[in-house]
Amino acid sequence: MTVLPSSEHSNDPSAEPLSEPLPSEFERAGLLADLEDGLPQGVVLSNGERVCVVRRGHEVWAVHDVCPHRAFALSGGDALTVDGESAPVIECPWHGAQFSCATGAVLQGPATDALPTFPVRIVEGEVFIGARREPIAPSEVV
Ligand code: FES
Repeated sequence: MTVLPSSEHSNDPSAEPLSEPLPSEFERAGLLADLEDGLPQGVVLSNGERVCVVRRGHEVWAVHDVCPHRAFALSGGDALTVDGESAPVIECPWHGAQFSCATGAVLQGPATDALPTFPVRIVEGEVFIGARREPIAPSEVV
């Protein structure tokens, strides 16, 4: 994996680069220019983790590419713009469950479990994906 200087604001390609390298768990996933705006795409990380990547303009989000309802891929679904949601909402193509790309939270069933998410950094036009973050259980939200 290539380690490049990172931007202070992870999704802002115009931000000044920092001298700090990306944390080692970040893995290059491709070029921002190769991600079609608003079209979810599946990526497989070197550890076999399946990730669904969604681009909107100069921002990119990444969630687990396995729907918690029946374990089908979310990357064949749609990325929706929903009032009140600052990030895209991924809609499962199989039974219509919807999840926040920012938090992985379930916004519409039949799924009941949230999605793991992955931090994304964009450095010099390249997209890097970090380590999986498990969703916060509703009982842990304060
Ligand atoms: S597999 Fe995703 S909603 Fe059923």
